[in-house]
Amino acid sequence: AQPQQTVLDLVTWIQRRLEPGLSYRFACRVGMCGSCAMTINGRPRWACRTLVRDVMQGREVRIAPLANLPVIKDLACDMTVFFEKWQRAGGRFVPGEGARDRFAPIQTESKARRAVDAAIECINCGICYAACDVVADDPDYLGPAALNRAWSLINDEKDGARGPRLAAVAAAGGCASCHSNQQCSAHCPKGLNPTAAIAGLKRTLLGALLRGEL
Ligand code: SF4
Ligand code: FES
Repeated sequence: AQPQQTVLDLVTWIQRRLEPGLSYRFACRVGMCGSCAMTINGRPRWACRTLVRDVMQGREVRIAPLANLPVIKDLACDMTVFFEKWQRAGGRFVPGEGARDRFAPIQTESKARRAVDAAIECINCGICYAACDVVADDPDYLGPAALNRAWSLINDEKDGARGPRLAAVAAAGGCASCHSNQQCSAHCPKGLNPTAAIAGLKRTLLGALLRGEL
């Protein structure tokens, strides 16, 4: 281990010098794209921001693909199901009335906007999905990242798909499946709290049910 050497550096060194056929994924190398996630000593982490010296156990670092996703080859997982669940959860912004207005004002200190800010920095790394016990038990569960995304959009006052999105997260495999184990929040490299986002979805759904909106 060299000073400042990351696990991504290590994997790249192995591929270039020892095993040219080694498959893995990365892009930005600086913690922005989310593509380098893998299991490092049994825990899902972003390889480009994990220093080898911080995770070495004796002289060993054990590296594996992310859990809860099909493996294409070596360390490269197939993320298709992860992104399909984003779509199922209504993860796409739908412009609502006024969304295209120039300089439409947003109250930056409003409760809703603060909820958006807390959830919006997701880089789609899949680490929370790999860490989630509920996903492991129930492959139909949308998972923390997709629900966190739905929560950020439900609080976005420019979004126009609140009703369909609430219906999507209320359906089977939605937020009611979360057991609040908090593995997602414990592992998210961006410091997000999907458990809190999912709790917000549950509260919002209950309110919508009581008002007869669902
Ligand atoms: Fe990664 Fe965090 Fe987004 Fe999950 S919520 S995909 S751990 S950045
Ligand atoms: Fe982009 Fe690690 S390579 S987050």
